[in-house]
Amino acid sequence: MDLILACLTDKIKAEFLRFSFYQKGSIPMPLVTTTEMFKKAYDGGYAVGAFNVNNMEIVQGITEACQEQHAPVVLQVSKGARAYANHTYLVKMVEADVIECPDIPIALHLDHGPDFETCKACIDGGFSSVMIDCSSRPFDENVEETKKVVEYAHAHGVVVEAELGTLAGVEDDVKVSAEDSSYTHPEEVEEFVTRTGCDSLAIAIGTSHGAYKFTPEQCTRNADGVLVPPPLRFDVLEEVSKRLPGFPIVLHGSSSVPREFVDKINKFGGKMPDAIGIPEEELRHAAQLSVCKINIDSDIRLAITASIREHFAEHPDHFDPRQYLKPARQAVKDMVTHKLINVLGCNGKA
Ligand code: G3H
Ligand code: 13P
Ligand code: ZN
Repeated sequence: MDLILACLTDKIKAEFLRFSFYQKGSIPMPLVTTTEMFKKAYDGGYAVGAFNVNNMEIVQGITEACQEQHAPVVLQVSKGARAYANHTYLVKMVEADVIECPDIPIALHLDHGPDFETCKACIDGGFSSVMIDCSSRPFDENVEETKKVVEYAHAHGVVVEAELGTLAGVEDDVKVSAEDSSYTHPEEVEEFVTRTGCDSLAIAIGTSHGAYKFTPEQCTRNADGVLVPPPLRFDVLEEVSKRLPGFPIVLHGSSSVPREFVDKINKFGGKMPDAIGIPEEELRHAAQLSVCKINIDSDIRLAITASIREHFAEHPDHFDPRQYLKPARQAVKDMVTHKLINVLGCNGKA
């Protein structure tokens, strides 16, 4: 491998290394696009987990779980993550992952790319997949910007996720109220996909971003007094899938906001009243249909926060970050392992 690299010009070398990281002695699976992952997920009736990464412990917790469970994974980076951790640090951590987890396909994806320039920066900067999110703009503008990104991305071997319909919640400090959110109109999807050439489509069927997806007033209570949110609009998903047979659908805002994390946060000094997520059974059902990618970020934040709050309460004398970040990383790993097996169904599918 070193001999091959020595013979290449710098430009070709950079291209060669872009999606193919190597290690002395063994050649790990390179960073991949989502094309093959989604095809297998669609045919196999499961979904790939797309987890947001912001620091080393999160990256390690996710990929240790995926490597152990032999699961494909999408590591996704938002505009906010790039601002927080720096593009280069994030890319290099994922490159390290490709080396450390040689048995699983890993895609590096831009989450909610707001415009062509951000997508271009990520395409040029080593990502294998980008999302262009113009879902809050008028249909034709969404088509035009998405198409522009698709042309550039495809010319560079990168795939593109686009979005139709608007989710409620907070993403990159943009807050969309429940009233301003809107379900995807199935009658628009064929024209959108044909005109843009996008590779996957995020749709709005009632999920939303963040840890407060529903107000208690929107929910009913089950026999045990637990709040049950309104069901997802599977009729919209089915209508979209009928119009786009074989096409990979993406669900954003798919954290379940597990009770155990919220209770632990509240028990150890936090204040997260009325945090409510998407029931896991509904996500499992979506994964069996045309949904090939399920986005999870808030559950990672909750797992870490619960773990650190508990740690500080029980060890007030600790001040070495490794003392509390190690169990926090383990909490991410445990949570992701649970999702892979019980929600996404992608364990053993690498
Ligand atoms: O969709 C939003 C993701 O959870 C990313 O959140 O923009 O705060 O990084 P962020
Ligand atoms: P959650 O806030 O439900 O984790 O959604 C994350 C997401 O959609 C990232 O794009
Ligand atoms: Zn999202």
